[in-house]
Amino acid sequence: MASNVQNTEETSALAEVVESNKFKTTEDIAFYRRQKKLLPGNSPYHALLDTLQLSSYKATLQLLNEENKVSLLLEIFALEDHVIRIKVNELKPMKLRYEVPDVIVNEPVTQRLTVVCSDGLSLTLAAANGCTHVLVIAKPFRMEIQNHGEVSMCVNSLGYLYFEHLRKKSQSEVNIRESRQEGKRKRDMETQEESEEDLGLWKEQFHEFIDIKINGPTSVGLDFSLHGFEYVYGIPEHTENLRLKTTSQEDPYRLYNLDVFACKLHSRMGVYGSVPLLLAHKQNQTMGIFWLNASETLVDISLNTENKTSLGKTKKLKTDDDVLPRTDVRWMSESGIIDAFILMGPSAFDVFSQYSRLTGLQAFPPLFALGHHQCRYSYKDENDVEQVDAGFDMNDIPNDVIWLDIDHTEGKRYFTWDRSKFPRPREMQEHLRSKDRKLVVIIDAHIKVDKKYPFYCEAKSKKYFVMDKDGEEYHGSCWPGVSAYLDFTNPIVRNWYANKHGLDQYKDSTDILFVWNDMNEPAVFSGPELTMHKNAMHAGGWEHREMHNLYGFYQQWATAEGLIRRSRGMERPFVLTRSFFAGSQRYGAVWTGDNVAEWSYLKISIPMLLNLSITGISFCGADIGGFAQNPEPELLVRWYQAAAYQPFFRNHSHAETKRREPWLFGEDNTKIIRETIRERYALLPFWYTLFYMAHTKAEPVIRPLWVNFPEEVNTFAVDDEFMIGDALLVHPVTKAGITEVIVLLPGKGEQNSPIPIYQHGGTIIPRKTQVLRSTKAMEMVSYALYIALDSENSATGMLFLDDGHSFNYKSKNQFLLRKFSFKDNTFSSVCADEKGCYCTECVVERILVMGAERPTCVTAWDPDGQESAVHFTYNAGKSLLNVEDLRLNLACDWMLKFHY
Ligand code: GLC
Repeated sequence: MASNVQNTEETSALAEVVESNKFKTTEDIAFYRRQKKLLPGNSPYHALLDTLQLSSYKATLQLLNEENKVSLLLEIFALEDHVIRIKVNELKPMKLRYEVPDVIVNEPVTQRLTVVCSDGLSLTLAAANGCTHVLVIAKPFRMEIQNHGEVSMCVNSLGYLYFEHLRKKSQSEVNIRESRQEGKRKRDMETQEESEEDLGLWKEQFHEFIDIKINGPTSVGLDFSLHGFEYVYGIPEHTENLRLKTTSQEDPYRLYNLDVFACKLHSRMGVYGSVPLLLAHKQNQTMGIFWLNASETLVDISLNTENKTSLGKTKKLKTDDDVLPRTDVRWMSESGIIDAFILMGPSAFDVFSQYSRLTGLQAFPPLFALGHHQCRYSYKDENDVEQVDAGFDMNDIPNDVIWLDIDHTEGKRYFTWDRSKFPRPREMQEHLRSKDRKLVVIIDAHIKVDKKYPFYCEAKSKKYFVMDKDGEEYHGSCWPGVSAYLDFTNPIVRNWYANKHGLDQYKDSTDILFVWNDMNEPAVFSGPELTMHKNAMHAGGWEHREMHNLYGFYQQWATAEGLIRRSRGMERPFVLTRSFFAGSQRYGAVWTGDNVAEWSYLKISIPMLLNLSITGISFCGADIGGFAQNPEPELLVRWYQAAAYQPFFRNHSHAETKRREPWLFGEDNTKIIRETIRERYALLPFWYTLFYMAHTKAEPVIRPLWVNFPEEVNTFAVDDEFMIGDALLVHPVTKAGITEVIVLLPGKGEQNSPIPIYQHGGTIIPRKTQVLRSTKAMEMVSYALYIALDSENSATGMLFLDDGHSFNYKSKNQFLLRKFSFKDNTFSSVCADEKGCYCTECVVERILVMGAERPTCVTAWDPDGQESAVHFTYNAGKSLLNVEDLRLNLACDWMLKFHY
């Protein structure tokens, strides 16, 4: 949160005022103003088809700007797995331009492209898979991406390709003329100085902050037209609906990581994190555009219609209407190069997997991280921690983690303890360990400038901090006062930082201590828009502007690495971050920052988490109850009921709010919250299995309805309900005073319901039969399988099991992946991955079949082929068949037969 915003009584209206003073509007962004001067059509770019060169892994050709005569190099790659990559850079840049490192996990495997048709005006390249073609049209330059003969996407068809080449300042007069042409500048400029300022080519001012641009203008942009698509999603993080809105009359979506306390709702301004991935969906296809650029980025979206005949291959389009929808997406970045990946799907799950091959999979969290987290800014002292911990047991509410915010440190010097409040941190952690619980401490990105703080002194002597434009250590103010900022972009700094988490280095830390990285946009209270000056300098001589959106990504990476190293590579880390970028899913969890205790913030948490989930970040959550201000009890209860079904489940509140432990709101409310948290714990095997699927197959843990029901148009804009895996549909209550909501059940229409959670027919959910005080305490508790039959009387489900905390599932194959299925009146449990082997005494104790008829008898077949009758009860009114008192080992194959 911003330093000057601490009063919890403030309203959102006040927050709005604060925002409008502190943060830019699009009018304040010079590169955006420059790009917006381009008029659609008439791109000055001309593809020189005779410069085409084909190598085994790419095609290249030159693009000439007919107006300023600067040539660009276009590279086209066909990646395996239905992905087309387009890179555009200057043919001969004066110096290297920034290309985002470290986000793409492996150099993508490419296919050979061949020319299948060329007539001097255009040429067509075919990928080796045979189904993807790229048509390059020479003049004006434009591209069509065709899939199975159908045009899915056009590039630069609106003519918004924009590329400011590097230039020398002394040429500025010439450049102004060029910019005039590049920007189709309409009005005349009186003097050169004024013009430069107006265009922000070399200098830009916002309030008192002057941004001197040593490289001059470096902005890039490009448009993509999605044919047949009218629903687009993604590009988090914004306090907006799931379905992206058109920006023709309103602000573009801004991707610029900022510390925005109590962010105004339905705003497209940048908040804490950015994932430049946009998804588009129509009934028979999902596609993605991943714009790999870490500088400030703005995205314009417009929805248009076009005549079928205006497209090359219209005959194959599967609609009878004469007009088709078309969504145009225009990306504009302040710097870097153009590097765009077109993910062709065709299904949503294909897009998830295509994206994960590029940016990595969700880290597999330790099981405890899926339990309940209790946080506050700040728990006062050891006694407070002990009381809160005991409160959970006294109230019979499970909890896995207690969190310590900034005040646990000595004067906000991270990696230290305030000994007056925490004299025995090690004993405190041992106490939590004895309860099978963990501790998470905050470690922010800023470092107090203090000559007596060894951490600062060491980093300073090694020159590990970001520098300012004049080559001095960059200083800004944050929680500790004057602060320096580690240059996490430097691998040497990350390595050093990671080692600081070692048990021998972080005094009085233990292996039950995990980490929360905050203020890593980075937050600089004294900086422009409360963040770092764009002309601060990083390793390699790169300006901060080039990689601003990557700063938090790098800190979380170094922290996760540190926790792994601390355990000599044995244990899975848990790191929560506020700022993030594409790929952050590899390092832990993300939360949505400083929300407010208002119903509207509960409501918006659903689309915000869904947009994170479909852009790779499955492990996400929002502060329960709202960080700022005090929730009325009904809001807190409803928030708990929503958050128990969201991936990251943490109660957190601002220093000046009333205490918010779950038992402080009267016995009736405690009872509901208790039941809610206990239900979360009962469902942990389901959550854990879904996280394994996210980790191995890139399937989002929670998802919008359209992902599971891609043909059902009435689900495409739904963002007040969502799916957990493919089994549970949840519709949280997000309004005061209501006891019923209308729930859309795909395929079944709408239904009034007081209990907004449904299991989808055809699925099997693994649960625990008993809830104890923490996930670890529940390790040996038996399982129940809840089977919801579909219209064919069938169902399937999965269960993943391992030790819950180590990497042994990967390094030693110590895991079980079981597949459950119900078909032809037989239920079976079989191994779904022969590689895995994990010994457990854990059993399935109960099987509940929903939608079953009453059998005459039920028999169990054990692995030795022995058949024995088992006990069951049947509720005819509810068609519920309950098979109890089973002792079927999870690790073995077995069957139950239902006789009729
Ligand atoms: C920021 C965080 C918040 C935290 C506070 C103090 O505002 O978003 O969660 O409690 O800083 O560290």
